[in-house]
Amino acid sequence: MGKAVVRTSLRPDRILVARVNGSVVGVCGYTADGVSAVDLSWTSLRSHLSRRGATRAIAMLAILARSSSHEALVLDGICVAGNHRGLGIGTSLLDAAGSRAREFGFRAMRLTVVDTNPRAEALYRRLGFVAVGGGSLGVLSVVYGFDRYTTMERTFER
Ligand SMILES: CC(C)(COP(=O)(O)OP(=O)(O)OC[C@H]1O[C@@H](n2cnc3c(N)ncnc32)[C@H](O)[C@@H]1OP(=O)(O)O)[C@@H](O)C(=O)NCCC(=O)NCCS
Repeated sequence: MGKAVVRTSLRPDRILVARVNGSVVGVCGYTADGVSAVDLSWTSLRSHLSRRGATRAIAMLAILARSSSHEALVLDGICVAGNHRGLGIGTSLLDAAGSRAREFGFRAMRLTVVDTNPRAEALYRRLGFVAVGGGSLGVLSVVYGFDRYTTMERTFER
């Protein structure tokens, strides 16, 4: 059921895709102008879930929601297929996201990385992202499997 919800909620105009020989090996979703890569709005969730199920989903997702911004393109998530990692595909996706951010006229792009992912954070730092904030999930860390998260931004020269 969860996959069906996500599948029908995907917004192709908010997802960058990396392909090798025609097969998708990496994706990077982003939020711009208030539109996210996955439309998990009440209306969208209710088309698959009961009222109770949609309410529960909204409550759980609200904790992880990234606020959209007028100043920055917000990355919703980046992932490269396991057997294609370490080949520069993630870097290319982030470069493409930077180009997209400039096309939208943003001064920066922003992402969030969790404390259990130091290698991803190291990649972001290498590509010019710096920490601008962060926080903790507190008791909910048991549910999500991580506690602290860091918000990072890469700004562009005008
Ligand atoms: C993070 C990720 C998108 C990077 O994509 P990539 O194509 O492997 O990245 P690149 O080849 O351009 O750069 C390699 C760097 O990515 C980082 N990296 C993070 N996780 C990695 C992994 N599992 N394998 C290889 N590199 C990884 C490292 O900094 C690595 O450099 P290093 O080998 O010197 O440590 C990818 O590893 C991935 O999908 N990981 C799982 C999902 C994830 O963690 N997403 C980020 C959420 S914030």
